[in-house]
Amino acid sequence: MKISCGTDIIEISRIQEALEKYEEKFKLEIFTDNEVKYCESHKNQKYQHYAARFSAKEAIFKAISNKLDKNYSWRDFEIINNNIGKPEVFLKTMIPEIESIDVSLSHCKEYAVASVVVLFK
Ligand SMILES: CC(C)(COP(=O)(O)OP(=O)(O)OC[C@H]1O[C@@H](n2cnc3c(N)ncnc32)[C@H](O)[C@@H]1OP(=O)(O)O)[C@@H](O)C(=O)NCCC(=O)NCCS
Repeated sequence: MKISCGTDIIEISRIQEALEKYEEKFKLEIFTDNEVKYCESHKNQKYQHYAARFSAKEAIFKAISNKLDKNYSWRDFEIINNNIGKPEVFLKTMIPEIESIDVSLSHCKEYAVASVVVLFK
């Protein structure tokens, strides 16, 4: 078994601008329906939650990019919080090489960050 880590930081204002400018197109390209539902439920701070999920997906790409031949899309990875609030990564497409992905998110007024650890079979 091999592990690979990935990390990412993003300015929340960049995600806010993209969402305001390209609204549905940007959402549909990057986020799953469940992710949109979660972010939109945090009305006043929704951009922090979108940015954290965007950051998590960037971190995943960093962790897997030199390990897998095929290219995957943003929506192949879904970040959903469990019943105690911990975010979990679900693969929306079969990626046989991956055993599991763990993620941790944080966000403040200006930035969102994500760290992931990918466990390969
Ligand atoms: C859950 C907690 C850690 C969140 O920290 P915070 O500084 O308020 O907020 P951050 O911006 O850093 O993190 C928010 C993210 O934490 C993550 N999170 C929430 N609950 C979590 C949990 N139980 N486990 C792991 N991650 C969690 C979520 O991803 C959330 O972002 P999201 O809603 O967009 O998914 C905090 O509210 C808490 O409960 N602290 C108590 C810690 C404690 O008891 N320490 C002593 C023993 S170790």
